[in-house]
Amino acid sequence: MFPPPCPAIPASASGRILGWLLIALLILGLGGTILLQVEKQPEYSPVARGAKLAETAGCFACHGRGDGEKRFNLRQKADAWGTKNNPTFWDEDITKVDEIVEWITNGVTAAEVEKHKRLFIKMPAYKVRLKPAEIDAIAAWILAEGLKYTQGTGPTAKPLSASDGKPLTADQLLVSGDRLSRKFGCYLCHGELGQGGVANPDSFKGYIPGFFGRDFLKLTANGDRGEILHWIDHGRGQAIESGLTGKIARHFTTRQATQMPGYRDQLAAPEKELLADYLLLLNKSGPLPAKEIERIVTLLQPAASN
Ligand code: HEC
Ligand code: HEC
Repeated sequence: MFPPPCPAIPASASGRILGWLLIALLILGLGGTILLQVEKQPEYSPVARGAKLAETAGCFACHGRGDGEKRFNLRQKADAWGTKNNPTFWDEDITKVDEIVEWITNGVTAAEVEKHKRLFIKMPAYKVRLKPAEIDAIAAWILAEGLKYTQGTGPTAKPLSASDGKPLTADQLLVSGDRLSRKFGCYLCHGELGQGGVANPDSFKGYIPGFFGRDFLKLTANGDRGEILHWIDHGRGQAIESGLTGKIARHFTTRQATQMPGYRDQLAAPEKELLADYLLLLNKSGPLPAKEIERIVTLLQPAASN
C-alpha cells in the first residue's frame, strides 16, 4: 500500500507514513478491543437468569434459599394469631410451571386467595415488577434447583438403570446422563442440568460455562466428541488451547479460580461416552425453557415410582 521508506523520501513524506502507520495501529487496537468485548459477551440460560432474578426480586427474604429453611409468618385463626412457616420453593412439591408462574404473577393462586388473606405476611404480586419472560425464568430456576433435592448429588445421586444393550432413546439418555452428572459433581460447577451461571473469578467470562450454548461449542471445537472426551479426561480442552488464540485461552484457563479436575481415572470408558452423548444432547436442546424443565422433572421423577 505504502511506498517503502528509503532515505530518498523527503521528511514530510516519512512523517505522513508514520502518521498512517499510527492510525493503522490505532484501528487494529480498537478492532481487537471491540472483538474481545464481543467475545466476552455473557451467555445466560433461563435457569441462570432466574437464579439472579430471584435474588434481585427479594424472594429469599420470605422463602429462604434452601430446602427446609423455616421462615417466620403468622396466620389468623378464629380467635388469635397462630404461628406458621413460609414454605421454601420446594416444600410443597410444586412441579408445574403454570402454578409457579401464577404465584409469582399474582402473589397468590386463585385457589388460595381466601386462605392468603389470613396471613400476617402476604406475598406481593410481581406482574407490575417483572416481565413474563423474567417470571418464566424464575420458574425454570425453581424447577431445576429443586432437582437437587429430589435427585440427590454425589453419593446420594440415584443409580443408573441397567442398560439392556440397546441404544438409548433421547429421553433415556437424558435420565442416565443426568444421574451420572449428579453422581460425579458436574452440575456443581456447570449448573443444574448444565445450565451454567456459576461464578468463576478471573475466567474469560467470569463464570463456568454450561453445556447449552455457544460457550460450549467454542470450547469443544463445535461439539466435537473427541474434544468433549478430552475435557472430561484432563479438565482442559485441546483445540481451544492451540492455534492463534491458544495462548490467550491457556492464560485464562490457568489463572481462573476454579479449575476443572481431570476425570481420567475416576470414570470408566462407557461412562465417559455416555456423558459425551448427554452433553451433545443437552447442547442440541439449547438453553432449556421452563416448560422443557417441567417435562424433564416428570421424566426424572415418575410420580408412581417415587
Ligand atoms: C413478603 C414475603 C414474600 C416474598 C417477598 C415472596 N413471597 Fe412467595 N409466598 C409468600 C407467602 C406468604 C406465600 C404463601 C405461603 C402459604 O400459603 O403457605 C408464598 C407462596 C409462594 C409460592 C407457592 C408455595 C411454595 O413456596 O411453593 C411460590 C412458588 C412463591 N411464593 C414464589 C415466590 C417468588 C418466586 C418470589 C420472588 C419473585 C416470592 N415468592 C416472593 C411470601 C412471599
Ligand atoms: C470443580 C468444577 C468443575 C467440575 C466438577 C466439572 N467441571 Fe467441567 N469445566 C470446569 C471449568 C472451570 C471449565 C473451563 C471453562 C473455561 O476454561 O473457560 C470446564 C469446562 C468443561 C467443558 C468444556 C465445555 C463447556 O461448556 O464447559 C466440558 C465439556 C466439561 N467441562 C465437562 C464436564 C463434565 C462432564 C463434568 C463431570 C464429569 C465436569 N465438567 C465437571 C469446571 C468443572
